Amino acid sequence: MASAPRLFVFLLALTTIACGGTEKADAVAPTWHADIAPVVAGRCVSCHQEGEIGPFPLTSYAEAAPLAEALAGSVEDRTMPPWGAEAGHRAYLADPSLDADTIDRFRAWADAGAPEGDPSQVTTPWPAVGLEAFETDLVLRAPEPYTVTGEPDDYRCFVLDWPETETRYVTGITTEVDNSEVVHHIAAYLFRPDSILGDGIFDQLAAWDDADPELGYQCYGGPSGSAGSQIPAIQLAQWVPGMGALPLPDGSGIEVPPGSQIVLQMHYFNPGPDQPDHTGLALRLAESVEKPGAFAPWLSAEWPLAGMSIPAGADEVVHTAQDDPRGFFGFLVEGVELSDGFDIHSALFHMHNLGVRGELALQHADGSEEMILAVDPWDFDWQRVYRLAEPMEFRDGDELRVSCTFDNSPENPATGGAPSDVTWGEGTFDEMCVGNLFITEP
Ligand code: HEC
Repeated sequence: MASAPRLFVFLLALTTIACGGTEKADAVAPTWHADIAPVVAGRCVSCHQEGEIGPFPLTSYAEAAPLAEALAGSVEDRTMPPWGAEAGHRAYLADPSLDADTIDRFRAWADAGAPEGDPSQVTTPWPAVGLEAFETDLVLRAPEPYTVTGEPDDYRCFVLDWPETETRYVTGITTEVDNSEVVHHIAAYLFRPDSILGDGIFDQLAAWDDADPELGYQCYGGPSGSAGSQIPAIQLAQWVPGMGALPLPDGSGIEVPPGSQIVLQMHYFNPGPDQPDHTGLALRLAESVEKPGAFAPWLSAEWPLAGMSIPAGADEVVHTAQDDPRGFFGFLVEGVELSDGFDIHSALFHMHNLGVRGELALQHADGSEEMILAVDPWDFDWQRVYRLAEPMEFRDGDELRVSCTFDNSPENPATGGAPSDVTWGEGTFDEMCVGNLFITEP
């Protein structure tokens, strides 16, 4: 290590301190090359580069320095890197969040005037997280590229035939993103021919598709085509930029029988005219698995039937469902035997724009509780799957709790300053509260 640059930085810091007068002389200011660039390379650049979804590049000192204050602010309030899981409950795989020391480093760098430091002092970049790659067997995409039209967001559903002729298990989920500047999140829903919804569901999907003159049809909070209508759907996949590939737990997979249809739901950010996209959902398949698994949605059956009241003006409305979920899962979870309980491998949430916090927890018979996932702050744009580092066990006597907190006050920008009464539904101005677990047999 050359000591001259360090000394130089130290003298520079002393000068700053001397001029500032009140600063404490306890630390050398962090520099871009030595302290900030390595973190940015591993935690920010995957999105913040030309042609990716981040609104500006962060690939050089010249790009980052003028934004030093914004960078510090975004890591301090934990909006960046995007990761909603509240710390202190559980360990999750592919967790990109920054520790307190690193966040302080961004603040100290900004406060010191974003010093560049010595380019020869570059330290090893942090490794990127969540980039486990695997071979895939099938890519599902719209029959032709779709040109993004809605502004600033475009929510689009494409109905796709499942091409396999034998039962297969999806064991890993990833994406082949085409236009990464516009793709914000992807969800996929499975409609089996033996669905509790009956055959009519395929006609319904076709009707929504036909009614929309463009490729696919407009959809927002789920696979339903018109605001207000809603259908219980089996989740097959969920993806946001930065999440990386999603391998399902070893030995497990989601059963897909022949004759199924998949609804691929795309959330596009539209930065301007003429943005074609032909993104595909890439799946790893197996002919059989040891333990079939499924995404199992947990909510109160009363919400879709009787509504979920979120009165205009209320700044903290909490809705909770708590019970043994297995009877409810029975309707939506196919191919998984639940009588001995189940193991929980991952969790995700679904709310719309008034949601501010979500909690999914295991309640044991002795009254103790284990948090599976608390998402805070909730952000509709960053719906991702949180993979537990260690699976959790639901057994006889346990209950599952999902709670969602909504802010329908004029102070919440999502209300546009003019709240109105809100209830359950799939439209942009409706709300939902669903905690979704990936489960397998014990
Ligand atoms: C997974 C993709 C992704 C990663 C990783 C990411 N960003 Fe972002 N960033 C975005 C997107 C997209 C936006 C636009 C606003 C939004 O959607 O939240 C954004 C916006 C921002 C903004 C604008 C203000 C704000 O807070 O919204 C700042 C500053 C920022 N990012 C800094 C960072 C820094 C610093 C890192 C790394 C520590 C980082 N970002 C990592 C995608 C990402």
